[in-house]
Amino acid sequence: MTLFDSDRVRLDLLRQRAYNYRWAVHPADVIPLTAADPDFAVAPQITEALVRHVTDGYHSYGPPRGLPEFREAIANWYTRTKLSPVDPTHVLPVNSAAGGLFIAARTILGPGDNAIIPDPVDFLFRRSIEAAGGIVRTCPLPDGSAEYDLEALSSLIDDRTRAIFICNPHNPRGRMLSAAHLMALVTLAERHGLWIVSDEIWADISYTTPFVSILDRALPVYAKTIVVSGLSKNFALAAMRIGYLVARNTDVTQLLFNASQHASTAAGIPILSQVAGTAALTSCDAWLSDFRVHLAARREQTLAFIAQMPFLAPVDTNATYLAFPRLVGVRDSAESFVARVLEESRVALVPGGRDWFEAGSEGHLRICFATSEEILKVAFDRITYALPTLGT
Ligand SMILES: Cc1ncc(COP(=O)(O)O)c(C=O)c1O
Repeated sequence: MTLFDSDRVRLDLLRQRAYNYRWAVHPADVIPLTAADPDFAVAPQITEALVRHVTDGYHSYGPPRGLPEFREAIANWYTRTKLSPVDPTHVLPVNSAAGGLFIAARTILGPGDNAIIPDPVDFLFRRSIEAAGGIVRTCPLPDGSAEYDLEALSSLIDDRTRAIFICNPHNPRGRMLSAAHLMALVTLAERHGLWIVSDEIWADISYTTPFVSILDRALPVYAKTIVVSGLSKNFALAAMRIGYLVARNTDVTQLLFNASQHASTAAGIPILSQVAGTAALTSCDAWLSDFRVHLAARREQTLAFIAQMPFLAPVDTNATYLAFPRLVGVRDSAESFVARVLEESRVALVPGGRDWFEAGSEGHLRICFATSEEILKVAFDRITYALPTLGT
């Protein structure tokens, strides 16, 4: 028996606690393969660390730059698991990867500046840039890829361009950027003096090829690089609102710290979250490794389901626990198709479309498979059974 067996999914608790388009916001007969948030409890080591801390009974103010042991744990995580040496003094814990994107955008963009993002990509990219007063320029990604077409990317750069954003591994496509592509991006960014903001929250979930960070030791150290990451995807800690930023030097770290407003105490990251994060990054390697084994099997299950669905184009995803197939022969929008799937099969999915993953994502749907074998099987069986009524 493992921690990821079907009987480990506590639907009673998920129905109370899993919001954001998931169990708690749907009627009891709906299976939500929606927001990317695992259906499993966190590693026991995380729970034990939290209980120890809470039992001590002290909840004083913490350091505005984050707990030293958490910063150290993050730096070691990158150095140890990604062959990307990180200095702990260049790490800033923040209250989520989402929050990290907003801080990064605020740091590097002023009103009227523009930043380039891929299309498709998670809506947080646009939201963070626009919240900073910046203008979004989307660069359509070639079919099935997470890598930019470098010519198309270059043609979008003008004298108000300040940054290139990347999502590596990529949500929703579940693909990664190669070392050669990252190298090309650094060269391009350096030539134009642009920032690179690399969202690497999915870095620990890859299957067939290893993940390469923009901070990889084989790549040049480019000062205008900011990595955004978090612990919602790898360690199932979304409720803790925990994430971090990594810079390349002290000056940029200071700029991020200023933009974070942590010094004011009006913003910051709760100590309990950092206790959980420290435990995750220092004592949960075995849990993560088992989670990955479980996910690899669910990936196979999902890709096999997609391959036999007449209205979905086959996809290959080699990272994340997401699949993002294109709809084939479906005349209605992704949003109304997903609404019909919900009605006919009681399975909730995320539609493509501008509000979710930029305009180029229309005509796709996203499936999150971070659940049990049994739940996934029931969901896929229900959709298969509803096929005749889903016909377009
Ligand atoms: C690419 C990407 N960035 C950021 C986030 C947000 O993560 P967090 O829960 O740390 O805010 C997500 C969540 O789905 C994501 O997919």
